[in-house]
Amino acid sequence: MERDEIIKKFSPSLDNILFILHALQDNNPQNYLSKDDIRVCAEYLNVPYSYVHSVASFYTMFSLKPRGRNIIRLCDSPPCHLMGSGSLLEYLKESLNINVGETTEDGFFTLELTSCLGVCGVAPAMMINDEMFGNLTPEKVNAILDMRRKS
Ligand code: FES
Repeated sequence: MERDEIIKKFSPSLDNILFILHALQDNNPQNYLSKDDIRVCAEYLNVPYSYVHSVASFYTMFSLKPRGRNIIRLCDSPPCHLMGSGSLLEYLKESLNINVGETTEDGFFTLELTSCLGVCGVAPAMMINDEMFGNLTPEKVNAILDMRRKS
């Protein structure tokens, strides 16, 4: 979908800046906000480019660099740590052959850390895009990644 079509779903009010940035990022096949995305948003809201850029760089849910089709967000808060998220992180880094903040060569996965996902009862937990996974083990993570590769 064209950027203009996307932003016109929202009224040109600063109150909508996060909604607009979300919609633009979701529309980008590389899961990030490009310079053009930021420029179009700034023009629509009639604010400086630097203002929109500072908002986009403040929130961890936005990325200013290209990412994979599947964004893995592993919870990095203490309850998940206690339940083994540290070893899951090592497992993810090794099996995907990337570090935190990086994207696999095939552009399929990006690995990120996040604070509490609000599902501590099923720690350790992670999200992939909008889907939540809990009670994770290396075997379960492996099965989830395999499913994602096939979808
Ligand atoms: S600490 Fe991980 S989901 Fe709450």
